[in-house]
Amino acid sequence: MYILLMGPPGAGKGTQAERLVEAYHIPHISTGDMFRAAVKQGTELGKEAKRYMDAGQLVPDAVTIGIVKDGLSKPECKQGFLLDGFPRTSEQAVALDATLAELGIALTRVVNIVVPDSELVARVTGRRICKACGATYHVSFNASKVDGICDKCGGTLYQRDDDREETVMKRLEVYHSQTKPLIDYYKTQGLYTEIDGLQAIDKVFDDITASLRSNV
Ligand code: AP5
Ligand code: MG
Ligand code: ZN
Repeated sequence: MYILLMGPPGAGKGTQAERLVEAYHIPHISTGDMFRAAVKQGTELGKEAKRYMDAGQLVPDAVTIGIVKDGLSKPECKQGFLLDGFPRTSEQAVALDATLAELGIALTRVVNIVVPDSELVARVTGRRICKACGATYHVSFNASKVDGICDKCGGTLYQRDDDREETVMKRLEVYHSQTKPLIDYYKTQGLYTEIDGLQAIDKVFDDITASLRSNV
């Protein structure tokens, strides 16, 4: 199963990815998570990425394409993967096609989680993430049982640096101008499915797995 998960900031890509990678036993390749890991480690990549992320801008294509290419070339991606948050520009989409062609892989499905902007700001500003295991929560829509503590591992929950309202507005603007046009790119490839991301988390998951079943 080679899945590409698309959608605006806060659509629920990470939330669904957590479940999908467990259900299908495939690696989760999230460019956002890779950049945050590099920031945490204080690497050169992390320093460069942080400048763009904090401004709500995209990290340059050359950097982003390079890390995804490395990721996809690993043996664990041979049997499948879930790409979350990549591609986000037409250059990235073209580079992905070239990389997949080199690897002899064809995408199974492109799943786009659709949520209107009005809902996204509340989702992103209320998001909390576990420092230890990366699980995603929301203070109102998907709260942990104990405030500030992860249900799964007992880790401490934190808020992402780029989840402040001003940065979220910028990220949405960038999404509309640079990433949303990719919908047409994938529609012409015939692999595209739209999922209503306003539904409950379980229902979104059921709709995604139903769409994946229809293709295998
Ligand atoms: P990235 O980490 O990819 O952020 P994003 O795309 O903005 O998406 P988010 O992670 O914010 O949202 P999500 O869809 O995963 O939602 P989640 O499941 O957490 O990228 C961050 C930055 O890195 C970028 O701005 C850029 O700088 C850089 N970057 C990354 N990839 C790049 C690329 N390819 N090129 C260049 N730069 C790149 O859910 C959100 C909240 O809603 C949570 O609190 C969750 O609990 C809640 N929620 C989820 N589903 C539901 C539901 N159905 N109902 C109610 N609440 C829900
Ligand atoms: Mg995410
Ligand atoms: Zn945890």
